[in-house]
Amino acid sequence: MNKERKLIVAGNWKMNKTVAEALDLVRGLKIELANIKEVDVVVCPPYTALSEVSKEVLDSNLKLGAQNMSENGVGAYTGEIAATMLKEFSVRYVILGHSERRQYQKESSELISKKALAVHAASLKPIVCVGETLAERESGRMQEVLQSQVQGSLAGLTKEQMCETIVAYEPVWAIGTGKTASTAQAQEAHAFIRGLLVGMFDDSVARRVRIQYGGSVKAANARELLGQPDVDGALVGGAALEVRSFADIIKNSI
Ligand code: PGA
Repeated sequence: MNKERKLIVAGNWKMNKTVAEALDLVRGLKIELANIKEVDVVVCPPYTALSEVSKEVLDSNLKLGAQNMSENGVGAYTGEIAATMLKEFSVRYVILGHSERRQYQKESSELISKKALAVHAASLKPIVCVGETLAERESGRMQEVLQSQVQGSLAGLTKEQMCETIVAYEPVWAIGTGKTASTAQAQEAHAFIRGLLVGMFDDSVARRVRIQYGGSVKAANARELLGQPDVDGALVGGAALEVRSFADIIKNSI
């Protein structure tokens, strides 16, 4: 696939996998994806498996990501994880503002922008998630919601930082539901988000930012979705939990 930007496919393992299961998965992926150079492949295990998985990815083309990070440095923040702790395990990417965290932990775009700045301050790369619910889409508010989330969550980033930020468009109604956005719906939302980045930063920044699609991505729909001009990769949940399904998504996107 000839793309303007290098594709980036990340597996968000969410709250799944013991250490032993995580090792099985990452070892399988290393074998299956050993020759892949065309796509940046990222695995995002739960915190408890980062240490062991980081040893496995050292001598591979897989990169490591975390699923969240504190906006604060080390200190009295019970249950939180700081950037310095992630860096011990060679983490390169951090997912921020996933819709599950926006919903269950009530994370706001304002908080996510603080986290994004902390991620950059540690020279890591944030994957900032945005996306509308079904009710928002059906009431014609998709653009308004995306605008508010994009502008709020990326507020305060410099142009240089924005170029090193990945945006993930994840329509909430497509996450874990088996309902995927059509290629036209995905392209429309991605182009809209890129347009917002032109307004917030400039044209050349917007052209460099990679925008992933997320929401029931699987091997069968990856090629079509990632073939859209403004879709630069995928953030994969359920299908990232098995070697075969995740490896096939990546192979089908090349
Ligand atoms: P899904 O999840 O692939 O299971 O729909 C995607 C995500 O939540 O990142």
